[in-house]
This record gives sequence, C-alpha cells and structure tokens, in this order.
Amino acid sequence: MIPSTPTPGLQVRQLTKTYIMPAGPVEVLRGIDLDVQPGEAIAIMGPSGSGKSTFLYILGTLEPPSSGTVLVDGEDPFQRPAQDLAQFRNRHIGFVFQEHYLLPQCTVWENVLVPSLINNISRPDAAVRARQLLEQVGLSHRLHHYPAELSGGERQRVAMARALINKPRLVLADEPTGNLDRQAANTVVSLLLDLVRNHGVILVLATHSLEIARRFARIYELFDGQLHLRDQ
Ligand SMILES: Nc1ncnc2c1ncn2[C@@H]1O[C@H](COP(=O)(O)OP(=O)(O)OP(=O)(O)O)[C@@H](O)[C@H]1O
Ligand SMILES: [Mg+2]
Repeated sequence: MIPSTPTPGLQVRQLTKTYIMPAGPVEVLRGIDLDVQPGEAIAIMGPSGSGKSTFLYILGTLEPPSSGTVLVDGEDPFQRPAQDLAQFRNRHIGFVFQEHYLLPQCTVWENVLVPSLINNISRPDAAVRARQLLEQVGLSHRLHHYPAELSGGERQRVAMARALINKPRLVLADEPTGNLDRQAANTVVSLLLDLVRNHGVILVLATHSLEIARRFARIYELFDGQLHLRDQ
C-alpha cells in the first residue's frame, strides 16, 4: 500500500464549541470549515463576543473543540495524549496576543530565547535564529534592554520574534495591534506578513480593524458561530 502524504497546512472541519455554563449551554462555534495553505495569512473579524478568541484558542490547542477536527499538516493534535499537547504547542504554534506577556525580568534577547529552551533546538541554532529574527523586526540594537524600557510597538515586535523562534507551522495573533497607535500597528502587521511569507508559516489574525484586515488576502467574518468569507 502506498502511504498517503499528509495535506500540508491547516484544515478545520465542522468545528463546534459549546461552553456548558450554570445558566445553560453557550454555543459559540457552530460548524466551522477552513483551509489555509503554508505561507498564507488570513484575517478574522467579527463583533465582540462572536468567538474569535475561542477559535484561536482551539487552533492553538489551548481549548479542546466540542466536536469537529483541526488538522495541522495532516495531524490532529487533539488525538495526542494530554501530556504531549504542550510539547506540540510549544514546537508548532506561535502566539502573539494583545498583551505581549514578555517576562519583565528577562532582556529582549532572553525573552526571544525562552521557548527554545523547552524545546530541543540546539542553543547555537536558537541563538543564530534569535539574532536573525530580532534583526528582521528591527530590534538588534535593543538585545539587552528589558521590556519596561521599550515602547508598546517594540514589545509587540519582541513577542513576534519569540513566537517564531521555534519555527512554528502556525502563528496565531489575537488583536496583536489592539494597544498600538495606527503607525505602530501597521508596522507590526507588515512585519508579521513578511515573517509569514519568509518562513512559509500560516498566520491567522483576529482584528477589529478593517484597515488591518484589508492587508490580508482573505478576510473572514465570524458571526452566528460561522465563518463567512467577506468581499474585500
Ligand atoms: N472559558 C469560557 N467559559 C464560558 N464562556 C466563554 C469562555 N470563553 C469565552 N466564552 C464565551 O464565548 C463567547 C465568545 O467569546 P470570545 O472571547 O471568543 O469572543 P471574541 O470574538 O474574541 O470577542 P472580542 O472581540 O471581545 O475579543 C462569549 O459569549 C464568551 O462569553
Ligand atoms: Mg477576543
């Protein structure tokens, strides 16, 4: 028998999520289908409470779906034993949130390297990559500074370099520009799009800004628990 090659990229099939609450079930996602190829970037818009963060959490394996499947390069991470899920996440998924979650007691350089320490990339390889990424986000001159000494946009750029240090297949960005002014937001998005293109990863970004979303090849709107492709 010829072994079938796994389909590269992200495939989501009939994904649902219902939170069971004391007041009754809350159906947030009601059957989402989505395909994204490596090197592609998509934006997700939708009203507050429509389920954008919930969807990104599930893609990032931080929450299990209620039903349906997520395949990352042909693998369903939720089929792994629970103790392997954290390893999968660390190895294959990069997160950029609205809050940067940098470690305040660590320098820029150390913050970017932290995820590589709990992974098995060799230290010299990780150091070379950290240097490249920090150069790409324009922070080579800030390696030994602490997060508190940086601007909001600079901190987000460190968070992006950190998200990419382990060469993830999937980068999930949940309103990464929410706290930034327009110019800093545009810079962060340009860098994210460049990084995705250069590294052939998938980017799924949630945003409330149509100006930001318009920079993406595809824009989806999440409402009534489903993704709707938007005419640009
Ligand atoms: N852990 C949870 N337990 C129960 N309900 C939750 C939980 N997380 C989210 N929800 C509910 O799911 C719905 C979607 O929330 P979510 O945070 O995904 O929306 P969102 O589109 O990201 O909103 P925003 O644009 O405000 O960030 C909301 O009604 C919320 O109350
Ligand atoms: Mg949200």
